[in-house]
Amino acid sequence: MIDSTKFWAVVPAAGVGKRMQADRPKQYLPLANQTVIEHTLSRLLQADVFTAVVVAISVEDPYWPTLAISKHTNILTAPGGKERADSVLSGLRFIRDQAADDDWVLVHDAARPCLTTEDINLLINTLVDDAVGGILALSSHDTLKNVQGTSIHGTLDRSHIWRALTPQMFRYGMLKSALEAAEGNPAITDEASALELQGYQPKIVEGRPDNIKITRPEDLPLALFYMEQQ
Ligand code: C5P
Repeated sequence: MIDSTKFWAVVPAAGVGKRMQADRPKQYLPLANQTVIEHTLSRLLQADVFTAVVVAISVEDPYWPTLAISKHTNILTAPGGKERADSVLSGLRFIRDQAADDDWVLVHDAARPCLTTEDINLLINTLVDDAVGGILALSSHDTLKNVQGTSIHGTLDRSHIWRALTPQMFRYGMLKSALEAAEGNPAITDEASALELQGYQPKIVEGRPDNIKITRPEDLPLALFYMEQQ
């Protein structure tokens, strides 16, 4: 029997990126002759596994329509939402007529342009037979402190602490219901947290440390360095 399970990518790209202090949202900042989001989407398309890449864009965004990649046949544009989770849910709803509950969805931040095909394949191959799904993550090398104000109130056991990256890979139906159940909850800062709230225990898959999220101005030269190394 041929397995008809599809893979979709959903890319939340409706944030403003205040911490970059730039004149435009961070996904449109230049990085090695392209914008950040063009690198991110090109890398998802290059992996050659997705039926479509759904990009959630703010309805007031003047930059997106000017990029050639916005017209690519495998790219679909959905409206963005107030918070990241709303943008992801909007992307999922956009494909509700084409996606089956058992299809896999990989949600990836527009602001992570250094993603490799190696990490996409590692995530998929590790989790494809899993009941729930999971996320790329990195263990923490630094000692981590619980701080209130400017005072340390304890040290966390870092052997149990991992940093959540993207892509995060879950079944379409399960992810959509979990995000719908969590709508408006500010604690939902990634897809895994919505699944955790439903009582699931998503898996972690150790990813590459160069899959950084562009957050602050100094992240752009760092991303360029990583791209040159790759
Ligand atoms: O701000 P942060 O780095 O956490 O954003 C992660 C991703 O979520 C970015 O790609 C950003 O564009 C996206 N986002 C979104 N809709 C929002 C807020 C953030 O798609 N309302």
